[in-house]
Amino acid sequence: MATKNSLSALQVMQDAPVIPVIVLHDIAHAVPLARALLAGGIRMLEVTLRTPQALPCMEAIARHVPEAVLGAGTVRSAADAQAAAMAGARFAVSPGYTHSIGQACHDLELPLLPGVATGSEILMCQQDGLTELKFFPALQAGGPAMLKAWSGPFGEVRFCPTGGVTLQNAAEWLALPNVVCVGGSWLVPADALACGDWARITRLARETHALRSAGK
Ligand code: 3PG
Repeated sequence: MATKNSLSALQVMQDAPVIPVIVLHDIAHAVPLARALLAGGIRMLEVTLRTPQALPCMEAIARHVPEAVLGAGTVRSAADAQAAAMAGARFAVSPGYTHSIGQACHDLELPLLPGVATGSEILMCQQDGLTELKFFPALQAGGPAMLKAWSGPFGEVRFCPTGGVTLQNAAEWLALPNVVCVGGSWLVPADALACGDWARITRLARETHALRSAGK
């Protein structure tokens, strides 16, 4: 789907092998974290709407780090999508799918990666024109074997598995033909955030380039 910033869900997935899943509790962390990830070559940043500070953090990143491509994660309603767009989000990620989330993101011109864990959910997304999907929670919902099984009936769907993906197992996921990228929280460890160890986060981001040369 074309958007006002010409970004598609596929482009969000193709930019790097990993979309970092970010949980921010302190607005002071937002800008240095975004800069640390950018320094490591990661531009697509998924800030989850899980904390009261999420929206102000997104606003700070949008204002001060315009080279980052800000996304909102944990979008659970049309209102979440609207608030995220107002805060500067340019894409959205949801842990599940409803038609109202899909409609809101369509109306807001926000590319959406909706979460699916069953064939029926994939069919619902396809009915609404969505073929780039987040497989969530990926490890718990069936792991790589599930995506291999889906590649038959849902051969045109491309996935971003998220949930239980780590630096150690990411290559296995990325080797699957229907996986474009993975999502994961390992790039932003809570202890590194807490002590402002931005250099460690940049190093973790840089490590993901090896994943690209290994497969995607
Ligand atoms: C989440 O919603 O927290 C993501 O799925 C991240 O999961 P992870 O911590 O297993 O990477």
